[in-house]
Amino acid sequence: MAKLRSREWFDTPEYYGFSRKAWLRSEGFGAHIFDNKPIIGICNSWSELNNCNAHLRQLAEAVKRGVWQAGGVPLEFPTISLGEMFLKPTAMLYRNLMAMDVEEMIRANPVDGVVLLCGCDKTTPAQLMGAASADVPAIMVTGGPMLSGEWHGRKLGAGTDGRKLFDEYRAGRLPEEDWCELQGCLGRSAGTCAVMGTASTMAAMAEALGMALPGCAAIPAVDARRYEIAERSGMRIVDMVREELRPSRILTREALENAVMVDMAIGGSTNAVVHLLAIARRAGVPLALDDFDVLSRRTPCLVNVKPSGSYLMEEFHAAGGVPVVMERILDLLHRDCLTVTGQSIAQNITGARCWNDDVIRPRAQALSEEGGTAILRGNLAPDGAVCKQTAASPHLLQHTGPAYVFDSYKEMLAKLNSDDLPVTEQHVLVLKNAGPKGGPGMPEWGHIPMPKVLLQRGIKDMVRISDARMSGTSFGTVVLHAAPESAVGGPLAAVRTGDEICLDVPARRVDLLLPADELQRRLSEFQPAKPHYTRGYGKLFLDHVTQANEGCDFDFC
Ligand code: FES
Repeated sequence: MAKLRSREWFDTPEYYGFSRKAWLRSEGFGAHIFDNKPIIGICNSWSELNNCNAHLRQLAEAVKRGVWQAGGVPLEFPTISLGEMFLKPTAMLYRNLMAMDVEEMIRANPVDGVVLLCGCDKTTPAQLMGAASADVPAIMVTGGPMLSGEWHGRKLGAGTDGRKLFDEYRAGRLPEEDWCELQGCLGRSAGTCAVMGTASTMAAMAEALGMALPGCAAIPAVDARRYEIAERSGMRIVDMVREELRPSRILTREALENAVMVDMAIGGSTNAVVHLLAIARRAGVPLALDDFDVLSRRTPCLVNVKPSGSYLMEEFHAAGGVPVVMERILDLLHRDCLTVTGQSIAQNITGARCWNDDVIRPRAQALSEEGGTAILRGNLAPDGAVCKQTAASPHLLQHTGPAYVFDSYKEMLAKLNSDDLPVTEQHVLVLKNAGPKGGPGMPEWGHIPMPKVLLQRGIKDMVRISDARMSGTSFGTVVLHAAPESAVGGPLAAVRTGDEICLDVPARRVDLLLPADELQRRLSEFQPAKPHYTRGYGKLFLDHVTQANEGCDFDFC
């Protein structure tokens, strides 16, 4: 084993070598912890302002057991935590801040390896980004999905089913008392949303990248097996330090391609596109938006979990989880990619068995021949846009209709419930100023709830386009991440109510049916709005955030 990194803090002739040991001993540790034992940081995103991560203190105790058993010394430390439901204007505004926090806390402290504890949507990519930049041996333990919701004899998935029932409530078909009762039934435990939303998708990405132990992603948050895998991860990180198994050896171009293919096979969240692009950049791996489309076209969607399918994460875990998905597309994957186990992807999933072929479909019964996410281009999104085709209405995947434009989220909220909103199911709703700079932070506003006038007529889907993101738990024929965004003068800024828009997902196109010179004329008149922030972190964000097709990381990271 090479010299431990932590010795640079403890074995120095200056006073600080002594005082660092003395200060650690003030926490009650004996002198034996300095006997050349790997110091393992446990990077914990626990927070009571993040219900999805509320159990991570207990999970950290299981990690510590493993670290001690393997001969290391665990030291838990906090970072900021990003609770998706609570942070305004959006948790995404702070993903990069958390990534910097994680990177610097690893870099600045005497840790030889780190266990990353995360869960809610942005905490997982933030930790992977930070760990990739710090490049100290790291293993991820995701918090796992919450228990399925239970209400009126039905199983419900937080996120997806909540949104569906909200539409029923808005349309007047769900009584007030039922709606109130539902509030206490949707999320029955700590853990991430119970569907294949962004959190579950990113947990699967950690596993597919090789940064988490096989099977980690889908074990329910409160299941004893999650504590067991946390303990095993604690044991494993000590060996990873001895093996000098750093993220840079794991996060290769091939590993990123594997993650993209698994994302497509699970019908993962569109947010994974932005996060994987950011992780790739941190790892110094070239990965472009078009790579997603190439890989999507050849990867079938196999996982029948909401919002693309019918089941919930508990059932996905019971069916065999990510190892089974990887086994079913192994011929497409780069099978030799190294993982945190010290073994390859192919070795890790040897013996994976499926226990429910309706939840994780065999290739012959795929949910769709192509992956969940399609990458679109066109004069409305010259730098790309995304569409979760498996969660869209098939009859709307090719659609032409007149635009109805909302210039801001505020305007959209004010008008959606109006009884005389002049829209039909033929319309294409357009939301501007919701991108990385315009939102700011590219909030999850792109789902654009269905107008009440249409819900009351029983219409549940229509084409919607924006430069925003949408929750991974959302569904519908929704085009997102249009780049460049409208707030910087991207083509979306030129759309006016009444313009015709053509969406053609099979052809991967989204176009404004306007003569090129008229589009140019309108864009030449574009005037940027006043910036949302003139100081502090907000200003740093606005000055340096990149567009969606580049991962929305800071240009200097
Ligand atoms: Fe945290 Fe869904 S809100 S995972």
